[in-house]
Amino acid sequence: MSNPSLLILAGDGIGPEVMDEVKRIIKWFGDKRGLNFDVSEDLVGGCAYDKHGTPLHDDTMAKAQEVDAVLLGAVGGPKYDNLDFSVKPERGLLRLRKEMDLFSNLRPAQCFDALADFSSLKKEVVAGLDIVIVRELTSGIYFGEPRGIIKEGNERVGINTQRYTESEIARVARSAFELARRRNNKVCSMEKANVMESGILWREVTQEIHDAEYPDVELTHMYADAGAMQLCRWPKQFDVIVTDNLFGDMLSDMAAMLTGSLGMLPSASLGQPMDSGRPKAMYEPVHGSAPDIAGTGKANPIACILSFAMALRYSFDQGDEATRIEDAIEKVLADGLRTADLLGEEGVTPVSTTEMGDAVLAALDASL
Ligand code: IPM
Ligand code: MG
Repeated sequence: MSNPSLLILAGDGIGPEVMDEVKRIIKWFGDKRGLNFDVSEDLVGGCAYDKHGTPLHDDTMAKAQEVDAVLLGAVGGPKYDNLDFSVKPERGLLRLRKEMDLFSNLRPAQCFDALADFSSLKKEVVAGLDIVIVRELTSGIYFGEPRGIIKEGNERVGINTQRYTESEIARVARSAFELARRRNNKVCSMEKANVMESGILWREVTQEIHDAEYPDVELTHMYADAGAMQLCRWPKQFDVIVTDNLFGDMLSDMAAMLTGSLGMLPSASLGQPMDSGRPKAMYEPVHGSAPDIAGTGKANPIACILSFAMALRYSFDQGDEATRIEDAIEKVLADGLRTADLLGEEGVTPVSTTEMGDAVLAALDASL
């Protein structure tokens, strides 16, 4: 049988640096655990624009459709700020999500014990926090038509459309309920049913799917603004949160920051099952391309490494090996290792991206 295939799209800024550490981890799994992958690499974002004049070449898009999983670093940078909207680096990412139909975006917000002091919230509010936001990723206001900037009389009007079909809501709701069953069996759905028809439908459909297929899971509903407030007040009340594309974008940044370590969080974007039974999938850190520190060796590779762990769990049925990576990272942090984004404790000298990678590899060796 051939090895499962991975397409690495390291992208811009710190993307390539953090991905270098992931490549070492992938190699470790081949050498030490007999888990081999066929790895290919290509361009996305600004670097793809520089070479091809587009943030995602059609050939790259086609490759992404073929592989068992895509690993993405980060896209964007100030160099590309003034490009036409249609070729901005972010468009490459959005095209991958849309054309691979990656409708379910899992964004864990987990507080590592060793880092509980880094949160802007009190330690007792965040210690042990472990929640997942399931963000709808291929529809809603990000993609709805009509959109554009039009002329009305003598002024311009910016237009975007929030639009959700029943089936789009149903499939992401199912994904959240399935995930909850593997966790603490609780889903909170967030929308604005008090002001938006799409929110009313969202609430109805999640409730219907729940009643018909997942009555064993606890389902609650919250308006997204109140949800934001509750996330700050007492985040541990949640297990799985399911919400639309735009609310999910905002709530997931907020939830990530609660943990004090935005640079530490991975994500998985999952689509329909392929012939192999694996879902179409792309894995990427939640953080961006951090152009200000690119090339300085300061970037924290942990989010990208944890994204590979999610790939092992959700694409390759290797939950135990994913846990092995997560435990290795716990250990490295408990030992006091910190990259520059995690400073603040007394007497700590930061380690470089590569040194953090070395330490994770050493902890992996020690786990055998
Ligand atoms: C994210 C990012 C993207 C989004 C941008 C880069 C297009 O903020 O993945 O959360 O808005 O979805
Ligand atoms: Mg975002």
